[in-house]
Formats: sequence, C-alpha cells, structure tokens
Amino acid sequence: MDFLSLLRRKQARGRLRADEIAWLVDSYVKGEIPDYQMAAWLMAVYLRGLDKSETVALTRAIISSGLVLDLNDIPGPKIDKHSTGGVGDKVSLVLAPLAAACGVVVPMISGRSLGHTGGTLDKLESIPGFRTNLTVAEFRAALEKNGVALAGQTDELCPADRKLYALRDVTGTVDSIPLIAASIISKKLAEGIDGLVLDVKTGRGAFMPARRQARKLARLMIEIGSALGCRVRALLTSMSQPLGRSVGNALEVREAIATLRGDGPEDLLEVTLALGSEMLLLAGLAQKPQQARRLLLRALHQGRALEKFRAVIATQGGDPAVVDNPDLLPSARYQQSVYATGSGYVKSIDALEVGLLGLEIGLGRKKLDDVIDPGAGFIFLKKVGEPVKKGETVAVVHASSLQLAEKIGAALAQCFTYSDRKVEPEELVLERLGDVEERRKVRKAARLRQRYSASSASGFKVQNRQPA
Ligand code: URA
Repeated sequence: MDFLSLLRRKQARGRLRADEIAWLVDSYVKGEIPDYQMAAWLMAVYLRGLDKSETVALTRAIISSGLVLDLNDIPGPKIDKHSTGGVGDKVSLVLAPLAAACGVVVPMISGRSLGHTGGTLDKLESIPGFRTNLTVAEFRAALEKNGVALAGQTDELCPADRKLYALRDVTGTVDSIPLIAASIISKKLAEGIDGLVLDVKTGRGAFMPARRQARKLARLMIEIGSALGCRVRALLTSMSQPLGRSVGNALEVREAIATLRGDGPEDLLEVTLALGSEMLLLAGLAQKPQQARRLLLRALHQGRALEKFRAVIATQGGDPAVVDNPDLLPSARYQQSVYATGSGYVKSIDALEVGLLGLEIGLGRKKLDDVIDPGAGFIFLKKVGEPVKKGETVAVVHASSLQLAEKIGAALAQCFTYSDRKVEPEELVLERLGDVEERRKVRKAARLRQRYSASSASGFKVQNRQPA
C-alpha cells in the first residue's frame, strides 16, 4: 500500500477501507511510517473526520497492536467504567470496590491526570506504597483475589494508542471525536471486558463542554463497542462545578474513603450510584435500576465496599491503615482560607479554572517530567446553591508553600460567583444513552405500540361508521 495515496484520499474527504487503516496503524507501530507522515494523516482525520466504519477499523487496529486480556477463567461478569475526565472526579475510587463488593469483576485500567483534569492513577499513588504499574500477571492475580484491580496501562496493551496519543498531543489533534472514541474504546476492550459504562462529562470543566458534542462522542463509543462485541452504555453527567468537596490527589482519596464509610458528599454518591446501577444491570446482577441501587447501598452500609478498598490497597502494595487513619496520607504544609466576595447563594464555581489552578499547585503535569504534589489541593466548604455570607470561608487551599497558597487562594476566590436569589445546582445525571441492544428493543416496542394503536384507531373508526 502507498501511504501518500491514503493520505490524499483522506484529505479529499474519501473513505479508507478497514485493511488500509490496519496497514497504516501496523506500519506506524513498526516504525515503517515515520511520525511526520502519521502526523499529517492525523491532521487530515482531525479536519475531515472518520465515518463509523473507519472508526471501528481504527479501534480494531489499535487493539490488534497488542495483547487482549483473556479473563474467561475468572468467573463473573467483567464490567468496567470509564470517565472522560473531570475536576474532583474520584468516582472510580469509590465505584470500583463498591461494584466488586456486589459481585462485578472490575478490571480497571486507568489514566493519569490529563490537562486540567485529575487522574485515578495519581490519586491512588498518593497512598503510601500503592503500586499502579502492575504486570499483566500481577493484574490478573489481583483481579482473581479481590474481584477488582486498579492499574495503569502496560506496554503490552494497545501500544499503538500510546504512540498515536503522544503524537496527537504534540500536533494539536487530540480534540477529534473519532480519534478520542477509538483511543478510549480500544484500551477498554483490550481489558477483555463484557460490558462498559461510560461517564461522559459535559459542562465547563469537561473536555466536551457542549452537551451536543458529549452526546455525539458517547453515541459513537456505544456504537463502536457494539460493533466489536461489547455492550456499552453511557451517562452524560454534569461537570459544571467540581465533583464532591475536594480536589487534589490525597484529599480525594480521603473523600473517597469517607464516601465508602457512608459519610461522603451527596453529589459524589449520586453519580457513583447512577454509574454503579448501570454496571450491575449490564452484569445481570440486577434487573431494575431501583434493585441495583438497593444492592449498592447495602454493600456500602454493610461496610463491604470499604473492606474491598482495603483489600485492593493491601494487594497492590499500599498501606491499608490509611482506610482507618487517613491522616497517614500525605498532606500539604500550608493552608489558606478563601473568603466569599458576595452574599446570598453560591451561583457557580468555575470547574475549568479550578482545574487549571490545580495544575499550578501540582495536582497534575504541565510537562511530562513535572512532579505531582500528592498533598496539595482544594476543599470546597460551599458548593453551588448553598447559602453564604460575604467574608465567610468558601474554600481552603492546601499547598506546599505559603506564597503559593496565598497566590492560588486569591485566584480561587475569583472562581466563585454569587446570587441574591436561590440557585438550584444543575442536575447531575443529564442523560442516559442505552447500549445498542437495549435501544433496538426500545425501538421494536415503540413500533409495536404504534402498530397496535394504529390498528385500534382504525377499529374505532370502523365501529363509528356502523349504523346505530
Ligand atoms: N482519553 C483517552 O484515553 N484518549 C483520548 O484520545 C482522549 C482522552
């Protein structure tokens, strides 16, 4: 095959066949297509897009570049959850042990902080000793032991994605719906799962702030999953303000532990239960959302989810004592209160700005070699809709130096707006997108209803025409 002809066809909005896409990805991984040529192809895709069958072919090619875990010998339904990323999004830390405590097998391969959003691996690594760099054998052993393992991507899974993602990162081509969909779904399918629940974040602090774009991404991921034999469902959830009351690696682990103890913030619990219900339904462990919710709440209240988290920490080399004594987690040396600049109700907290300020105090990386500060972060004492008086403390900055805490504290105050009138926070779960099989059933039922109502309507007319 000839690279330039494939490039020109994409530039001219043409379609590539599955075997052509497979050849491109394979040749790139082998080093036969250099970075500069692949960068040109990615830019052509960024500008011209890929249709559904091309995106399926790209996803398949990325999966085929590495190993696919075969988890068939581990009994139970294997279901994972993936979030497109947010600020204060520590749902995985609560949901993975909670779903496992209900009987779901959760092989969760997560990422690091990306841009202004946090990453599950960085949060977990704030637990002293916790290892996320498990080998495939260690990952399987942890999964067999606890029914849940939380680790980073290994070199064996989807090596093409690692190479392509790094290239996209430096060529301004990350922000493409088919490229994002193929990148996410390939990594998840390589885990050997039976089903996947997506948390597609939308709003100011999300990568897809516009709901329409978030929905488009969700639909595409559902369809690719289905084409490759995996049931995928999605919830669109709000990321217009940070999730929960803490943002920061160790601070979020603390909040996750509190939530597993039944003492966490309501919004975090709500999103966790909504996603968890979908996991249990996909796993066939519940038939109705209300039943799934009851099972999750029971596991939480009986302390089984917390015990699962303790077991995960112990198995993966961390200090399980943090579960009983979160003060063992790293903490920042300095704290700075942030005061309300208005009275009434908190109207908004700018999640994107909070995420960007988080980068300044070391929650993520601006450059590859930046060092994370595990103890740094923010605690929000006031969230949207809560009453407030001018001068009251609305947040606390945790930072490694007084100067940084003061500087970031002043900027954090500007992330809040206030209103005299009562404010309702945005709904947390904005939309639910069922998997392809489920949507087919709904469409069939609707067609039957329509046919039934048409025939009963015509029956009614016939009766009416009859003479009395
Ligand atoms: N997360 C991924 O794993 N891939 C993308 O392309 C974007 C976000």
